[in-house]
Amino acid sequence: MLDDRLQAVADFVQDDSSVADIGTDHGYLAIELFKTNNARRVIAADLNAGPCQAARRTISEAGFSDSIEVRQGDGLAAINPGEVDTVCIAGMGGKLEADILEVRPEVTARLQCLVLQPQNGFEYLRGWIYDHNWHIEDEKLAKVEGRVYQIIKATQGKKEPLTEAELILGPILIKKRPALFADHVQNNIEQLDKIRQGLRKGGSHTRDKLAEIERRIKLLEAYL
Ligand SMILES: C[S@@+](CC[C@H](N)C(=O)[O-])C[C@H]1O[C@@H](n2cnc3c(N)ncnc32)[C@H](O)[C@@H]1O
Repeated sequence: MLDDRLQAVADFVQDDSSVADIGTDHGYLAIELFKTNNARRVIAADLNAGPCQAARRTISEAGFSDSIEVRQGDGLAAINPGEVDTVCIAGMGGKLEADILEVRPEVTARLQCLVLQPQNGFEYLRGWIYDHNWHIEDEKLAKVEGRVYQIIKATQGKKEPLTEAELILGPILIKKRPALFADHVQNNIEQLDKIRQGLRKGGSHTRDKLAEIERRIKLLEAYL
């Protein structure tokens, strides 16, 4: 059984998809996609040999070695253009997730759906999505061991750019205000507050940066 974070990723993958789990590590998500989402095809890919070995072992123990292919490769280099319609990238930094999509445009252009769970760099990743003619169709929050995670489902098509608050907090999360939304806003404020504390110790040359962080904190406080 998946934890709430990976379950939220799996929930965003449509039944009957053909899907690649990039950075599969243990392979749990890939197995769930095959077993429960009735995926037509699942490729579990990872940059490193150790995780590929671990995924092969878990997949074999689950009895799906004939159905789920494990490939070692850097991001979408493990996937041929048009081979899958959906890509999941979970548990990495938002910048790395965007870079993985950016460096293989021939693969990304043939995808219909991205399911992304960034650990940080949310603003960058959402900006990348809108700058590259994708848009966010849905978003979820999931809490595991006290930490709130953001899960983003994006599909192709150009839409209006996001506002600053939408880039940080998520356009659908702002609209839907799910149960964990207050925790999510509070976490973002706490991270900015840590930066603020550091800048306050920095003296007068950090004044502009401090003013910018305080402006952002005010912006987010309006969503509490
Ligand atoms: C923190 S684990 C996340 C595992 C799983 N996706 C999850 O969310 O539980 C990150 C995994 O991504 C892999 N990884 C890092 N950079 C990668 C890249 N450029 N391409 C493919 N996999 C990568 C690492 O080897 C590691 O197994």
